[in-house]
Amino acid sequence: MAPILFGRLSAMAIRFEDVKPKIGARVVWDKREDLFTEEAAAVIRAKVEERTVLVFPQLNLSDEEQVQLTELIGPRQRMHVDKTTGEVLDIYQVTLDAKINPQPEYVLGTFFWHMDGITVDAPPSFATLLSCRRKAPKGGQTEFASTYAAYEGLPEAEKAELEGLRAVHSVKASLSHIADAIPQRDYDAVTKIGLVKEHPIVWTHQSGRKSMVVGTTADHIVGQSVPEGRATLVRLQEWAAQPDYSYRHEWQEGDFVVWDNTGAMHRVIPYDRNSGRMMHRTSIHGHESVA
Ligand code: OGA
Ligand code: MN
Repeated sequence: MAPILFGRLSAMAIRFEDVKPKIGARVVWDKREDLFTEEAAAVIRAKVEERTVLVFPQLNLSDEEQVQLTELIGPRQRMHVDKTTGEVLDIYQVTLDAKINPQPEYVLGTFFWHMDGITVDAPPSFATLLSCRRKAPKGGQTEFASTYAAYEGLPEAEKAELEGLRAVHSVKASLSHIADAIPQRDYDAVTKIGLVKEHPIVWTHQSGRKSMVVGTTADHIVGQSVPEGRATLVRLQEWAAQPDYSYRHEWQEGDFVVWDNTGAMHRVIPYDRNSGRMMHRTSIHGHESVA
């Protein structure tokens, strides 16, 4: 091939293989450096929107490379502040190790279906990006459920019933399953993280596609009794989690996974506090509020 074509064709040096019919793609590349270009980033971003979850098997990113790739897909969102130094972090370390993470209870909330950044005063992150630095010997797989595919698959009558419904979200609700296990001295600080936010259950994106804003942050449905609303919210979670719409990632160390946080819930299969599991996380700004 003539060298003059290399620039134009560099994005073609990345290929994608679907993982399941409705969710997931694996990225295949020839040269690692081909991933770190503007063209590649645009192709990756479009693929994240199309397939919801992208897996880069054993890419083995350094923190600097993860930040660079996040910026290329961008815009990079820096949303974690070190509790002790007040410093804004480039990389958030997802771990249950209390020596590294002063608020492991908050990370325990990741054992339940959720979307990131749904209780803050900003559009939800477009994407979350995780590098597996150390996997757990047991558990620790991450599951993703496409709420685009799940909404699409609902019977028309149920779609119509959801139209116009709004749910109230909070971190406190997302921790309700584990409230009994949160030490009393941490309870207030942890459950007061974030805001109490109302969102429509059906999110009509600017693209015209519809997804659902569900997960354990959703506490109740506005205008319905708590039992009725919660039952619906739990049913929607179960619906989205069915195998046709979801994917479980079995991590290998070095894997890098990017998912569309605006069209998916995720959760992690429980792992031990002392398992050594360590994920390095970055985020990409959302450009659309839930509407
Ligand atoms: C998160 C999260 C999942 C995981 O960091 O927000 O949900 O597999 N992590 O650790
Ligand atoms: Mn999360």
